[in-house]
Amino acid sequence: MRRLLIAGNWKMNKTVPEAIELVRGLKERLKCVEDRDVLICPPFTALYPVSKELEGSQILLGGQNMFYEEKGAFTGEISPLMLKDVGCSFVILGHSERRHIFGEDDKLINKKVISAVKHGLIPILCVGERIEEREEGRTEEVIEKQVREGLKGLSSKDEFVIAYEPVWAIGTGKTATPEMAQEVHSFIREILKELFGEEKAGRVRVLYGGSVKPENAKGLLEMPDIDGALVGGASLKAESFSAIVQFDR
Ligand code: G3H
Repeated sequence: MRRLLIAGNWKMNKTVPEAIELVRGLKERLKCVEDRDVLICPPFTALYPVSKELEGSQILLGGQNMFYEEKGAFTGEISPLMLKDVGCSFVILGHSERRHIFGEDDKLINKKVISAVKHGLIPILCVGERIEEREEGRTEEVIEKQVREGLKGLSSKDEFVIAYEPVWAIGTGKTATPEMAQEVHSFIREILKELFGEEKAGRVRVLYGGSVKPENAKGLLEMPDIDGALVGGASLKAESFSAIVQFDR
């Protein structure tokens, strides 16, 4: 019912020549993939050349962040119009690195989510608890706040994706077990039911992120409420990312 979405977040990696090389490798390896969506999110500087390289391919393009205004005196920022202009259809918002290194809060992230939807971009709203919050038994409280505040103002007609990324699993090699992740994903779907109704909640894709690798992808992606992955480190090599995308269902 929900089409799988495997997304690669390249973070602050890859020069333009390196990005092109990676995209060529992905196009070659993934040309026969039809039953799932594949998305790559290169750094801003590589978006345009990568979009040219992707012409005629089914691989989708997304930004890693954006500001909510269309244009103006916002030094260093990128707008939704600019992302659309270079061929993006998705944008990652509220990634834990944006929240914890750059101090983004739920209110700012919500403005970005609303703006992305308004401009026809599909936001991937990232949520996740820190290790101390999990140890204090506050995982659900933290996730619920991030989901409710991040999606404020959206309606059941709007398209969006959620990515659950426990902060302690990002780039650490520590993955949540499929059961731990499933528990949170199912909790997120309950919140979505309350906010948007059962039918919409059944259609929203909830991705898992945090040290996803070819070796653990199948176990995670077979869980009933895990509809894809947001992959960091393992998306930087064509071999590992395409192995995750092509896991055997
Ligand atoms: O956006 C991706 C996540 O932060 C996961 O990164 O796969 O390197 O742990 P990772």
